[in-house]
Amino acid sequence: MKYFYAEDEYYYSQVGRKELLKNYTEVDKLMLLPDLQTIRDTDYKRPEELAFLAPYTPEEISPLFKTNLFFEVIRLPNRGKGGLLTTGQVREGVGLDKALSVKLGVSMFNVSFTMEDYATTPELMHYINLIEEKFEHGMPSKGFFISGIPGTGKSFLVKAIAGHLGYMLVKMSLAKFKAMTNGVEALEHFFNFFEKQPGKYILWLDEIEKTLVGEESQEILGEFLTSVNDVNNANIDSNFFVMATANKIEKLLQSNVELFRNGRFDLVMFINNPTVETAKKTFKIYQDKHQELLITRLIPYGIYSYITRKEQPRSDTTPKIRIIVERIIKELNIDKKLVQSKSKKEFLDEIKKETELGDKIIKIAEEYRFSLEIDLIMRSSFELWRARVSQSGRFVYTPAEIEFIVEDIFNNKYLIKDTSLDSEGKVNYIQMLKRYVPLGASATDTIQQMRSRADNFLEV
Ligand SMILES: Nc1ncnc2c1ncn2[C@@H]1O[C@H](COP(=O)(O)OP(=O)(O)OP(=O)(O)O)[C@@H](O)[C@H]1O
Ligand SMILES: [Mg+2]
Repeated sequence: MKYFYAEDEYYYSQVGRKELLKNYTEVDKLMLLPDLQTIRDTDYKRPEELAFLAPYTPEEISPLFKTNLFFEVIRLPNRGKGGLLTTGQVREGVGLDKALSVKLGVSMFNVSFTMEDYATTPELMHYINLIEEKFEHGMPSKGFFISGIPGTGKSFLVKAIAGHLGYMLVKMSLAKFKAMTNGVEALEHFFNFFEKQPGKYILWLDEIEKTLVGEESQEILGEFLTSVNDVNNANIDSNFFVMATANKIEKLLQSNVELFRNGRFDLVMFINNPTVETAKKTFKIYQDKHQELLITRLIPYGIYSYITRKEQPRSDTTPKIRIIVERIIKELNIDKKLVQSKSKKEFLDEIKKETELGDKIIKIAEEYRFSLEIDLIMRSSFELWRARVSQSGRFVYTPAEIEFIVEDIFNNKYLIKDTSLDSEGKVNYIQMLKRYVPLGASATDTIQQMRSRADNFLEV
């Protein structure tokens, strides 16, 4: 007995039903939207002539139908573009990207990060630039497999590459496809979409090891990787490649070894702790970002709050930012009444627009510039943690940890009375860095194991 599963409302219209029955001539009686009772009470004298039609699966009616021995389930494709949208969604003007996101859990976005935001080695930059070079000369890329220690910037690297090359990021999970009864078909619809929308895309499978468990995932993964290659070969206008990120590769190496065969990806890499050079660059990147924050946020917000607040702040010490703000208000003679008559947003927008005031603020802020003694901090870090995290040529902290340390120093410097100053008013870095135990020290064995598994990968 047939059971038509159809989401598209077209099949429930007179015209739709007529067309359906034209294709299945043996069906004599079509029963719409059955419930368990209807199915039980139906007269099954000639089951081949009988069919059900519903936008839900038999197992959604009752677990009795889980194995589907009772029904032959036939899935009717949606009639909108790429087989993803229903007729109604097309009429409502639902975009395909929306359909991808709702149905397949795929999100598409452009990122504003670039490789300027990402500290790395020249070697990795070389591989990234090769992607564009290859594309310009008609050679598609297969993409990267990125493994590494937590916080070394696997996910961030994918975003930075997308922004740097101007590719759209398509974040997806194969788990969603796997969970669907017609996952392979859904994957086809997914690729149909991209074949019809030429462009540059990075298909990003984040934390892939978490979704690849069990046999169905092997099937989906195989289908996925083959389809990527097919699309690349068929569509010269598009560039299309995969970035897969993973923390734990142990299981993948056992159950999905095909992922790692030569030629599957352009590059299989392991991101280790940064080299000394890269660590230094990371400190610089975050130092500059925080200087920017000082000027675009802390100071303008501070001015607004200072002028509009009703009570004196509670702290008994004066943080540096308040000293800066008070000086600016006084020196620039900022009209308090004018500020009070505005909302915070209006005021901040005005500071941005009114370049004269903005310029003056920047000039004063320059005197309080956020600059770090990077070499000293790095030396102190080594001194403090060398015994517990020893890896020659590599810095003790990951980039995520460096970012956090910089942020904390910044907060200490401007937002609270600095507590890490010694009696001469200098920062005692050893004292301060004790607060940040590197992951490499608190989880030495695990991290060591991760490194050794990735022995054959390119280490960056
Ligand atoms: N090389 C880098 N340069 C600059 N910033 C970085 C770098 N690597 C990481 N970061 C910073 O650290 C944050 C965390 O990195 P990210 O989430 O990419 O790490 P991950 O390796 O994916 O970690 P997890 O294994 O926990 O998913 C980023 O959002 C970014 O701010
Ligand atoms: Mg990540």
